[in-house]
Amino acid sequence: MLISALKEFTDNEKRVALTPDSLKLFQRLGLEVLIEKGAGINSGYTDQQYIDFGAKIVNRKSCLQADICLCVKIPETKDLEKIKERGVLIGILNPYENKKYFDTLNKKKISACCMELIPRISRAQSMDVLSSQANLAGYRSVIDAAEQFGKAFPMMMTAAGRVNPAKVMILGVGVAGLQAIATAKRLGAVVSATDVRLATKEQVESLGGKFIMVEDEESQSAETEGGYAKEMSDEYKKKQETLISETVAKQDIIICTALIPGKKAPTLITEKMVNSMAPGSVVIDLAVESGGNCPLSKLNEIVIHNDVKILGYSNVAGRVAKDASALYSKNIYNFLNLLIDKDRKKINFNWEDEIVSAVTLSFEGKIRLEQFV
Ligand code: NAI
Repeated sequence: MLISALKEFTDNEKRVALTPDSLKLFQRLGLEVLIEKGAGINSGYTDQQYIDFGAKIVNRKSCLQADICLCVKIPETKDLEKIKERGVLIGILNPYENKKYFDTLNKKKISACCMELIPRISRAQSMDVLSSQANLAGYRSVIDAAEQFGKAFPMMMTAAGRVNPAKVMILGVGVAGLQAIATAKRLGAVVSATDVRLATKEQVESLGGKFIMVEDEESQSAETEGGYAKEMSDEYKKKQETLISETVAKQDIIICTALIPGKKAPTLITEKMVNSMAPGSVVIDLAVESGGNCPLSKLNEIVIHNDVKILGYSNVAGRVAKDASALYSKNIYNFLNLLIDKDRKKINFNWEDEIVSAVTLSFEGKIRLEQFV
């Protein structure tokens, strides 16, 4: 069976779906690996490295004809048209935004698997793309902030005087937020964090951060069964705004990561709060692609408002492309372990398996996930 990795076609996507270090794993599944020429170059992997690990470098057309085609972002319609009939396409396909491709997926009877729909269950942790990428985004957000901040992070006692530590606040303590706390702590900052889920209190404190949160009756049930945040009431939002605004004015750096699945990101940092920050402060809005936690942030821009820099980079994990690709490649390999019947050397869509069932968007000419029909 042939598996291929495509070269990404947008400027903003530096990642690749299969990395040389994981090639052996794919081969152990009985797969012959094809890589599109130059596919890994933007993430730091040369064609020669793939060849050294036993892959063949081929053109895009040959890649599209493989039994299983791997990508990061969904390819354009003209490429989908060239995918092998009944082929498998695996990527972060973003079906919420990419309905325009559904007809082609169905026409070619492509089995499209969306890695971002892997359920957040223990058995699926090794395939969890949202976590592997959010972790790196959390790390990179702090590095980006440090680069833009004109001061040091750690406290320094020098002969010429004391340098005070940077004060960093993290809004939203999911996977990205936790890594942002850990990274800022490692750099020596004084870190505080907030979330609406009470369960995060212990996590923040175990990383050495100070936890700040509006604790009332509503906050006792702010978490869904799946572990995600609920949208809070207007009354709670008001209390939260008061609490955050008191703290924001004293911060040098704010990292925004708060998201609510399927909804616009909550507004947590208002213009008034930004105005209260000292000149030279930095706000990083990781939620910008979902509408932003700060109304002033703009997609892929650095906005300077009242001498405060507000960064709205998209695809922040892609800014650590080498590691992001390596983890993504392993996530895909772990998923393929479920999809490939190793004895019969065949692809087997087992609908009894909740992971396979949750990610397979299209099959045999139909969109099969109810939420997208
Ligand atoms: P996410 O990216 O959906 O949201 C980020 C954070 O923003 C969350 O902690 C959320 O509570 C917070 N948030 C939302 N609205 C907020 C508001 N108004 N104010 C402050 N904070 C707000 O979250 P992520 O990182 O995807 O994690 C979601 C859940 O999934 C967590 O409970 C996490 O522990 C769990 N998880 C489970 C995994 C597994 O079992 N395989 C793997 C990874 C995460």
